[in-house]
Amino acid sequence: MIGLTKPRKSIIGLVLAGEIESIGKNVKRFKTGDQVYGLTGFGLGAYAEYKCMQETDSMHGCLALKPTNITYEEATVAAYGGLLALQYLEKGNIQRGQKVLIYGASGTSGTTAVQLAKYFGAEVTGVCSTTNLELVKSLGADTVIDYTKKDSVNLLIGQYDFILDAVGKIKTSELKKACKKALAPGGKYVSIDDGSLKLQSERLTLLKELIEAGHFKPVIDRCYPLEEIVEAHRYVGKGHKKGGVVITVGHNNNKT
Ligand SMILES: NC(=O)c1ccc[n+]([C@@H]2O[C@H](COP(=O)([O-])OP(=O)(O)OC[C@H]3O[C@@H](n4cnc5c(N)ncnc54)[C@H](OP(=O)(O)O)[C@@H]3O)[C@@H](O)[C@H]2O)c1
Repeated sequence: MIGLTKPRKSIIGLVLAGEIESIGKNVKRFKTGDQVYGLTGFGLGAYAEYKCMQETDSMHGCLALKPTNITYEEATVAAYGGLLALQYLEKGNIQRGQKVLIYGASGTSGTTAVQLAKYFGAEVTGVCSTTNLELVKSLGADTVIDYTKKDSVNLLIGQYDFILDAVGKIKTSELKKACKKALAPGGKYVSIDDGSLKLQSERLTLLKELIEAGHFKPVIDRCYPLEEIVEAHRYVGKGHKKGGVVITVGHNNNKT
């Protein structure tokens, strides 16, 4: 997808938030000056001051009006974490009072999934490492389990109706292996790596409503200016970001 011998696209970057600079004559959903957020899909090209996009959803992206009560930086984290978390939580068809376990509750999709599962009325257990226990609790998790602790497997007392692995199939632990066996009869285990991310502006609009109503607040780990993008990627590559990492582009940092 990215290119075998060299990048297909010289400008990468999948997620963006910014202001509409101008529109084509047939555009209906947006007007100049609108603040928007979204994903660029296979089109990539978000690491730039300007990006040309279609108003309709496609493999080349989806765009919606940005939540009014968060910054552009927060909006990028909300778009990526929110689309991932919503799509995979929906597979659980979570009902009020059900027990839900989010494995990898401290990453971009994990911090979002904890908050959205609470919003859906679940009793949420978040799994993360020692340094992130307080963060995950502060997002509303009823119980937190430290996957780095030797006895953590014994804390899996619940019979979970739904388990979301929010860190992907490469990252694992003894606890992750054990939690697959802690499903309630009829329960479901889903990995965020099962299938591909759907680019749907309808879901971005739903996330906007949830954010504006105070049900979900995106978590930012760090922001880097575009000039320090190599450092930003090195940091993300270490695999321990808490929430999202954001690149700021353009004058007055008003685009990300
Ligand atoms: N389906 C799709 O189309 C699609 C699209 C994009 C991404 N994804 C998948 O989504 C995954 C998650 O992306 P993301 O950006 O939300 O995650 P992320 O932010 O990169 O996850 C980082 C978090 O993972 C935690 N972590 C690292 N190793 C862990 C382990 N062994 N057990 C539990 N937690 C661990 C880290 O916490 P500690 O520092 O505390 O360990 C850190 O907070 C990606 O890796 C990718 O596989 C899928």
